[in-house]
Amino acid sequence: MHMSNEDRLYSQYIYERMGQSSLWRDFGFIAYKMSNKECFIAEMFIHREKRTLGNGRKLLNDLVDIAKGNGCDVVTANIHLWDQNANKTLIAAISCGFEVSKSGQDVLLISLKLKEQ
Ligand SMILES: CC(C)(COP(=O)(O)OP(=O)(O)OC[C@H]1O[C@@H](n2cnc3c(N)ncnc32)[C@H](O)[C@@H]1OP(=O)(O)O)[C@@H](O)C(=O)NCCC(=O)NCCS
Repeated sequence: MHMSNEDRLYSQYIYERMGQSSLWRDFGFIAYKMSNKECFIAEMFIHREKRTLGNGRKLLNDLVDIAKGNGCDVVTANIHLWDQNANKTLIAAISCGFEVSKSGQDVLLISLKLKEQ
């Protein structure tokens, strides 16, 4: 996996400014924050031409391994209804085992429970 200098700078920026760790692949990245047994996905992006090929699921599985290794019991994310990809993201998330667990002002909180292995 090649991480460009720009990727490296962005990963350092979100870590320093927002405490977000990130996983980088040639096809995309995921930024997350773990606290109190919860692993919150702050950003997830798969290159437009690399979507619906299983890459998002692959990256999520890698994050799930990290979250479990750190004692988390749930992975969460927000879907903002104003996001033009909101419905696609929701379909992909449900396909990957997430469920809608809360709703607020134009935001859905989605959760993936991590089972003990
Ligand atoms: C949402 C996103 C991360 C999904 O990544 P992806 O690589 O396309 O997802 P995958 O190919 O691994 O698909 C995972 C599952 O979701 C389904 N899925 C993904 N995109 C879908 C779509 N547009 N329509 C229907 N199903 C979809 C897949 O069929 C698959 O289910 P299956 O294994 O049961 O067939 C990607 O579309 C993305 O980066 N979007 C732009 C950024 C964004 O909106 N991020 C989220 C902000 S909240």
